[in-house]
Amino acid sequence: MCGIVGIVSDNNVANKLLDGVKRLEYRGYDSVGMVCINSNKLVIKKDAGKIEEVDKKVNFSELKGNIGLAHCRWSTHGSPTKENAHPHFDCKSKISIVHNGIIENFSELKEMLISKGHKFNSLTDTEVIAHLIEDNFKGDIEEATSAALKQIEGSYALGVICADSPEILIAARNESPLIVGIGKNENFIASDVAAILKHTNKVIYLDNNEMAILTKNNVQIKNIDGEIIKKNINEIDWDSELAEKAGYEHFMLKEIHEQPRAITETLNGRIENGNINLANELNFNERELKNISRIIIVACGTSWHAGLAGEFMLEELAKLPVEVEYASEFRYRNPIINGNTLVIAISQSGETADTLAAIREAKKKGAKILSIVNAKGSSIDRESDSVLYTFAGPEIGVASTKAFTTQLVVLYLFTLYMSSIRDSLNKETIKDLMGKLRKLPLEMESLLSKEKEIRKIANIYKDKHNALFLGRGINFPIALEGALKLKEVSYIHAEGYPAAEMKHGPIALIDKNMPVVVLATKDIYTYKKVLGNIQEVKARGGIIIAIASDGDSEIKKLADHVLYIPNTLYILSSILAVVPLQLLAYYAATDRKLDPDKPRNLSKSVTVE
Ligand code: M6R
Repeated sequence: MCGIVGIVSDNNVANKLLDGVKRLEYRGYDSVGMVCINSNKLVIKKDAGKIEEVDKKVNFSELKGNIGLAHCRWSTHGSPTKENAHPHFDCKSKISIVHNGIIENFSELKEMLISKGHKFNSLTDTEVIAHLIEDNFKGDIEEATSAALKQIEGSYALGVICADSPEILIAARNESPLIVGIGKNENFIASDVAAILKHTNKVIYLDNNEMAILTKNNVQIKNIDGEIIKKNINEIDWDSELAEKAGYEHFMLKEIHEQPRAITETLNGRIENGNINLANELNFNERELKNISRIIIVACGTSWHAGLAGEFMLEELAKLPVEVEYASEFRYRNPIINGNTLVIAISQSGETADTLAAIREAKKKGAKILSIVNAKGSSIDRESDSVLYTFAGPEIGVASTKAFTTQLVVLYLFTLYMSSIRDSLNKETIKDLMGKLRKLPLEMESLLSKEKEIRKIANIYKDKHNALFLGRGINFPIALEGALKLKEVSYIHAEGYPAAEMKHGPIALIDKNMPVVVLATKDIYTYKKVLGNIQEVKARGGIIIAIASDGDSEIKKLADHVLYIPNTLYILSSILAVVPLQLLAYYAATDRKLDPDKPRNLSKSVTVE
């Protein structure tokens, strides 16, 4: 859950390291540090705090050297203090490392190293790696690192430099993500492409138990036993501009506004003459897809909410039985899986440890794995049988926004594709449903133009302590997502509930201080019932903020505020309905003077289980 970046170059690396680690700050922001080698000496600057605060204090740009490492931390072992911040170093301050992951046998290793006279400066699990490399060092940093790795149990993405070999940067990976970037007269390592996209779009994805040995002009990948491995160099097609704020105050707001474009890109090439064209992306043939008898969706957080909406789509239109599991719980049950079970993993980052563990478990049990992933080349992408990408571009804000709506779009496309293969819908109906989907980006544009109205409502209720979000059918997961957005960025306690379930408990919370956001779009299934639920809230003095369909005048009589969204198909209206909820959360946070891009305690990419 930390971010690491390393560079070996023919130029000073401090500014590039600082820029890179800032782009990784979404991975962890409780402390930050940097090390460079200058005149065969390690020079380290680090402290607890966000990068901007620490940089003001220590001025990272002052560091000199053509090789260095940087790290932003989300603490697991040891609280966020200067001592526990990375980089860590050995007893002689010759070897320095940055690490993302957890060393499971660190207590035993630490005890062994202390008994040999090693002195520790921090309470982290990471520091043992620096001392372990020192313990194995006989003049060759590559050999020492490889020997140390053989003694380590756990997960790591690691960057290592040594003052005695100032031209070599070593990287290693087991379970935690790490890429190598190929530049001109410089090479890079990073947790994520966002950190280096400005300098290169050529990357090598390290696999488990692989090491990379980088000099400014060469990159060699080896296994842990020192055997050379041939790897592909991949070209990333993300525009580096997308990883910038482009005039927006926060990435979250920029990414909310990017949704029409992200949806358009997710649709591009997938609709041909009104037919869905996924056959060339799916590694399953029609017979395999026809034989699927059950789908299990695994995901975490916002992606799990997308999964719940996907369940509704697949059951309603493709007539397939679906279950949605928290990825973190999946392994601790004994799910019934056979060769006709399709497991769909949904993940923006493609690196969420629980989701990765769930697909590995499902594979062991014989399921086929289809992933819906945003980050190409990520672990989930590479370990799945088939992948459908969301073309959202890099999502930097910790609160997921454009990844969510594009996940819903991919689920909708996949649903219609399955419906056509399984003949649960006829061609004409599918064409009609596709046509409505095509209009979604424009409808979202018009919805985003109502931002000021949404901002006003956020401002009125920003000081409330609690909020309820209610929805039925496919709008229930949207209610959950609205509540998650609000709590994670504004720290207002919020709960999402199926609207009717409110009567079975949460109704006790309703009084004149309780804002209740109700998803009340017009549909043949639930609209009337939702109006009834609104009456129940009003009768107890609650405040209603309704998300309703354009032209609905009835709801105005009941609700305190109405935010209208364009009229569309019921399923698609859920994709529109989430946008005002994202904006409500964003403005509640910024009006409370909070930074929605870096909510406390959270990391964007949760790479530990
Ligand atoms: O990268 P993933 O989609 O696998 O991430 C899953 C969750 O960690 C993520 O959605 C998280 O809940 C976000 N903070 C939501 O805004």
